[in-house]
Formats: sequence, C-alpha cells, structure tokens
Amino acid sequence: MSTQREPPAPSQSEGDVNHSPERRRWQAGHLDDATRALLARDSAAFLHQSVSTPCLSAIRKAEGIWIEDSAGRRYMDFHGNNVHHVGYAHPHVVAAIKAQLDALSFAPRRFASETAVRLAEALGERFRALTGQHGRVLFTTGGSDAIEVALKLARIATGRFKTLSFWDSFHGAGFGAASVGGESLFRSGAAVGPLLPGTEHVAPFGCYRCPYGHAVDADGAPDLARCRLACAAMVKYVLEREGDVAAVVAEPARAVPYLPPPGYWQTVREACHAHGALLVFDEIPTGLGKTGRFFAAEHDGAAPDIIVLGKALGGGILPIAACVARAELDVAGAYAFGHYTHEKNPVTAAAALATLEVIEREDLVAHAARVGAHALARLHDMKRRHALVGDVRGRGLLLGLDLVADRDTKAPAAAAAERVLYRALSRGLSFKTTMGNVLTLTPPLVTTIAQMDAALEILDICLAEETAHAAP
Ligand SMILES: Cc1ncc(COP(=O)(O)O)c(C=O)c1O
Repeated sequence: MSTQREPPAPSQSEGDVNHSPERRRWQAGHLDDATRALLARDSAAFLHQSVSTPCLSAIRKAEGIWIEDSAGRRYMDFHGNNVHHVGYAHPHVVAAIKAQLDALSFAPRRFASETAVRLAEALGERFRALTGQHGRVLFTTGGSDAIEVALKLARIATGRFKTLSFWDSFHGAGFGAASVGGESLFRSGAAVGPLLPGTEHVAPFGCYRCPYGHAVDADGAPDLARCRLACAAMVKYVLEREGDVAAVVAEPARAVPYLPPPGYWQTVREACHAHGALLVFDEIPTGLGKTGRFFAAEHDGAAPDIIVLGKALGGGILPIAACVARAELDVAGAYAFGHYTHEKNPVTAAAALATLEVIEREDLVAHAARVGAHALARLHDMKRRHALVGDVRGRGLLLGLDLVADRDTKAPAAAAAERVLYRALSRGLSFKTTMGNVLTLTPPLVTTIAQMDAALEILDICLAEETAHAAP
C-alpha cells in the first residue's frame, strides 16, 4: 500500500484569510499598479502558506509606531507581530547594531563573545527578579527554536517526555512547537503529521467563553465560587492521571487575548510541584513589558522553571530568542540540545541589549501600563455604546475586543470583525483578528496617549460604521 498522500487542494493549503472576498475588495480599492506587480512577484517567488503569501500589500518603511506601504499610505501598526515594543528602527538599537557590526560581526560558538555574555547575564538577572532563582540562557534565532530548546531541556532534566499544553495556543512552527501548540492552522490538520507523541492538551482558561461552561458577569469576570477554577482543576487532574508529565507549556496571558482568572497559575504551579512537572512559560509575545510588567507572569504570582522570550528581544530588527532556565536545570551539558549556528551572535545580542536599555531608559514598562489602562477604559466605554462588542479584555498593551452577533448567545461576529479590520486599515490603523472575531490590539510600548486616542477614535468610527452596515 502506498504511504503517499494527495497534496491538499490549493484553497485548503493557502487558507481562506489570504483569499477572502473582503480582502480582495480592500485590495481592489487600495493597491496601485507597482504594488500589484510586486505582490505578483512575491506570489510567484515564495511558497504559499496561510496568513502570509499571497500578501495583502507591500511595505516600504517602518519607523516608530508607523508602517508605510509602497503607495505611501501610512498605518499605525497595532499588530507588529509583537516585535516592535521599542518602535520600529529605534535609533539606539540601530546605532548599537551598526557599532557591533564594525567591532565584531560574528562569534563561532566555541568563542565567548562579550556582548552575548552580557545579554545572557542581563536576562539571567531578570529571571532572578521574577523567580528568585538564578537563570541560565541559550539563544536561538527564532521563538519556535527556543521552545524546542525548552522542550528538550525539560525532557533531559525530568527523564520524562510528555508535555501538557493548551488547545488554541500557539508556540511556533517547528515540529516540537507545533506539537505543543493547539491551533489546527499551525498543526496543519493531518497534512504534516504525525506530530510528537506524548503532547497532551487540555482546554485553556478563557472566562468569557469558558470551555468548561461557566458563566461570567456583565464585565466578563468569572464567579470563582461557582466555577472553582475548573480550568486549573483539569490541568491538575491530567497531571495526576498521567503521572509522568515533563512540563506544562503555556502562555501566562493568552495572546488572543485572554487573561488567567485569579489563582489560576498558583493552582497550576502547585500541581506541577506535586507531580514533578516543570512549568514553562512562553512569553515570546508578552514578555519585555507588553502587559505592563516586564514579564506577563509577574501579574499572577507564579514562578516558572523556564521562560522563553523572542520577538521584541531583537528590537524589531534582528531575529533572536532566548530560553532562560533556572540554574539547577543546567544538567544537559553532555548533549547538544540547543546547538544553533547563531547561538552567540554578537550582532543579534547587541540588538537585544540595546532593546533592554531602551525599555529601561524610557521607562517603557510603566508607560505601557499607563497607556494600556487608558485604552482599556476607552474600550469599555465603546462596549457600552456598541452592542457588537461582547467583551473587552486586556492588560497593558495586549488588548482585545470580542465581537458578537448577539450578547446573549455570544455568537462570534467573525464577518463583522473582518470588515472592521479592513475599514480601520483604510483609515490608517492596522491590527489583527484572532479566533476570527477578536480585534486584537498589540501596539508598541512607545505608543503615546495621543496616538492611542487617535487609533481608538478610528476603531470607534469603524464599529459605528459596521453597526450601520448591519442595520436592516
Ligand atoms: C506565543 C508564541 N510562541 C512562539 C512563537 C513563535 O515565534 P517565532 O515566530 O519567532 O518562531 C510565537 C510567534 O508568533 C508566539 O506568538
């Protein structure tokens, strides 16, 4: 019997988002001939995949909170793949990269490089501030790879291979990361399987749409006396039943966004201790101040054993990610479990050091908390005025509006969310939708109150337009 499978049909492999009628309509009204020509070359040159190629438009500049398309149209980038915490092309980061290029442009792994050591020390210190324990580090070029490092370290340190992670989570595109991830788009259905064995999943926390069926109040808050943290209890239950899980892998605040109910991470932390599992926090999008604390985990009083950083670590310019583990987990010295060519690259390390300096000097973590609180208050006001908004969630500059067709049934208003997205784009605001119907705003930490107000004004107008559009 042949083991070959039919390749998926193009519409399936490219995903509907790349070809939706709404996207086509927006393109018809906004792209000039030169942009169309570049998109055609991009489409012919790259392998197609969902949510990237074929592209929406083309970019020619990225600076501060702004991106500019090839026709000169400017957008506030409230998505930025969470790489642009310090704003695009921050002069301090650019200067540090240039200086490092002149001084030392590469370090073979067998040679210690002052810059890479300084970065490892700085992140180790940050880890100590979070957990009270010294942290040791490995660098990779991407977040997905840093997750792989964490998974391998957890296996070696515990002598176990199973993991417990969450449906609907994303941890990267590699086999290990996709195996612990829980989004079918990235697990590629059955097309790339089988994935790693032993990667168990449970439903995540997500109070507004509690997978365990519990209700929330009008402000989206759970009734803890009733639900008794069923979501955390399930983690505990599976850890106990399996008995040999190496690690729980999770985003401490889900990028959807969804915030953990009070007590969630303490309960899971205790369960991990009780059953010998490590707690791995993926802070690739949420770390470095996004949520108004340096680590998202700081909000919840539970210390991880391993933390994974990436994205904004390279200042929105260079690719660098880090797996930071408590020093006692440094038990894999006989194995090359994170053997990456750019492991000690001084240029990417210089970008990361400069990024940390900017975050500190410009007090960006506290700034993100202030601007985020201001935004959240305005978003709640929008919820009062727009029936389309079922729930408002957020912490710092990780913000979301859950759009619903009906507040009682909470039916997700995915088509409306897509229309709002393209309307906002036309008015100069870029963000993304997650889970189909959640408008997800992740602006840079350098966003000012005035810029936030301008962006939210656009959103407000677009929500009103959508309501008018839907009116009979
Ligand atoms: C939570 C999370 N983990 C891991 C990753 C993967 O990072 P990278 O794309 O750098 O491999 C991402 C990227 O979006 C992410 O959001």
